[in-house]
Amino acid sequence: MISFTIIGHTARTDGAFSLDDFAGGAGRIDVLCRCVNASLFLSHELRRDVECNLVFLGQPSPPKTVKFSGRTIRSLNPDERSAATLIKKALLLPSGSEFRDAAPGVSVRKSGVERLLQEGSYGVLDEHGVDIRKVEQIPQSFLLSDHTNFTLGEESLISDCPKYSVGPAILHADHAITVLLNELDRRSRGWN
Ligand SMILES: C[S@@+](CC[C@H](N)C(=O)[O-])C[C@H]1O[C@@H](n2cnc3c(N)ncnc32)[C@H](O)[C@@H]1O
Repeated sequence: MISFTIIGHTARTDGAFSLDDFAGGAGRIDVLCRCVNASLFLSHELRRDVECNLVFLGQPSPPKTVKFSGRTIRSLNPDERSAATLIKKALLLPSGSEFRDAAPGVSVRKSGVERLLQEGSYGVLDEHGVDIRKVEQIPQSFLLSDHTNFTLGEESLISDCPKYSVGPAILHADHAITVLLNELDRRSRGWN
């Protein structure tokens, strides 16, 4: 299972946003929706072996994590609004310390990146990291930031994690996911 975790620094945690304004009043939830789509969609099918965790750090009750699981997801279409609708549904659900299903393949819990880092080992996708093409063994779990940099507190949490770059340009987070998945596709089909 490949997993991507994206930190949404301003993304609201209460689901009290309009689906006509999820790029604005919701705290750039559009960035997170695009990461869900980049993680899970192929042209005519879904990547069933990929999970996408979204960490919400905006007001009023951070942190929360919403998990999209490619294995069990249903009712997700490739437009951003579709992902935003499922996110809103998950955030409106009262959440506790364990994942609770909000819809098939979508679950939510009341914790953030610190807990995820305790549960598994992560590589950080970072424009200044080691060239992923030169890495023999690519990790299974990756952490990314949204449209902003990791905070100093996050930098210290991830200081021991290996950092990988997908290329010399600074990309949007969803594009970095696409390039990384392309590298995994190439390797798994003997293209390298
Ligand atoms: C828009 S960038 C964040 C802001 C960026 N640090 C800047 O200075 O503009 C979003 C995220 O995508 C990932 N990313 C962007 N470019 C990358 C690259 N070349 N290699 C690996 N990850 C990259 C990183 O996780 C980054 O935090």
